[in-house]
Amino acid sequence: MRTDEKSLPDPWHFGRPELAKAYLHAFDLKLSAARGLFARRRMGKTEFLRRDLMPAAVEHGYLTAYTNLWDNRTSPETALVAALGEALEPKGAAAMLSKLRVPVKKVKASAKIPGGVEGSLEAELGKVGVDRTAALHEVLKQLDRTKKPLLLVIDEAQVLAGADHSDFAHALRAALDIRKDRIKVIFAGSSETTLRAMFARASEPFFNWAPLEPFPLLGDEFVAFTVKLLNSMARQKLTLEQGMRAFDELHRTPEFFKRFIERYMLYQPQGDVAALAYTKASVFSDEHSLTQWHKLKPADRAILYLLARGESDLHSSATLEKLSTMLGKPATRNTTAHALRRLLADNVVTRLAMGDYRIEDEAFAEWIRKRQEPAPE
Ligand SMILES: Nc1ncnc2c1ncn2[C@@H]1O[C@H](COP(=O)(O)OP(=O)(O)O)[C@@H](O)[C@H]1O
Ligand SMILES: [Mg+2]
Repeated sequence: MRTDEKSLPDPWHFGRPELAKAYLHAFDLKLSAARGLFARRRMGKTEFLRRDLMPAAVEHGYLTAYTNLWDNRTSPETALVAALGEALEPKGAAAMLSKLRVPVKKVKASAKIPGGVEGSLEAELGKVGVDRTAALHEVLKQLDRTKKPLLLVIDEAQVLAGADHSDFAHALRAALDIRKDRIKVIFAGSSETTLRAMFARASEPFFNWAPLEPFPLLGDEFVAFTVKLLNSMARQKLTLEQGMRAFDELHRTPEFFKRFIERYMLYQPQGDVAALAYTKASVFSDEHSLTQWHKLKPADRAILYLLARGESDLHSSATLEKLSTMLGKPATRNTTAHALRRLLADNVVTRLAMGDYRIEDEAFAEWIRKRQEPAPE
């Protein structure tokens, strides 16, 4: 989607050509036709996929299709088929539309506007009564004709794990399995728990489809690159040590680090300490966190409060006692279990291992860490 956005060069983008090459090389070796990668939000997955991996794949002779299912939570099916449709030449897309019984006149009109076919494809697919599984087969048939390899990137793929998408997910898996030689798939996601569940449960359509691995995080080289670029424009230079310290204090989160750099650049006379303090205050105490906090049930807040402070055994009697005090009424194992179930379902919390939980969004975790104990309601 939004090809304009991905083709605009961004001087601040730290390219990772080696990593992109490694993924493509693994596909060339035909060891597997799909990979799953996960990392927390704001760590650079999407930027890598769109700015490094997909352009490298195009250079490598691939057609590419990208979809972010989080942005299309209500209809991931439509988003996926539309993304595949965008990989088609206008002629193929028009053929597909006509199969979906869109009046030919409409197809012709939209085909003249650049991007028109894709736009109308998504609109048509979104209509009530459209059989998206049939549309999926149709678009894949059109793609077969191109005889080109295709890289399909499914970002925030965990959305497909929802039970209401199960039929489509089964169809997708079957259709892509028979095209393994030509269609390679990257699944990316922020919720390790849900991704793992998707790929590990024998009853799930995604069972054993792709090996899951952590996405290699941005580190010192990214900081060095950014500091260097900043210094080529700034009057007051930032040292690498100052940059590294800021990166660490922002929990090695690329997005927050970029905000720090921007603040530093705009307020150079104030120096790095002030820029860091400002950035921390703004990212770790968002309005957003407060809104999110207020939407939660008291038990959920209490659990998050404990998790943010590194409480590991949520089911211990000591923890239950703390919970009871916080809630102002006796807490049981059920209190914890229900709260965790809600927090997991909403992707607020991730299960790392049996009984080991983590708050998904580091900014939110830090914000909670700074809060007073939640009062009972
Ligand atoms: N390779 C990179 N070079 C420069 N900045 C990056 C890079 N990757 C991520 N960032 C910064 O971090 C932000 C969040 O990255 P994003 O890819 O959206 O994370 P994710 O998809 O993991 O949530 C980007 O908007 C950008 O500011
Ligand atoms: Mg992303």
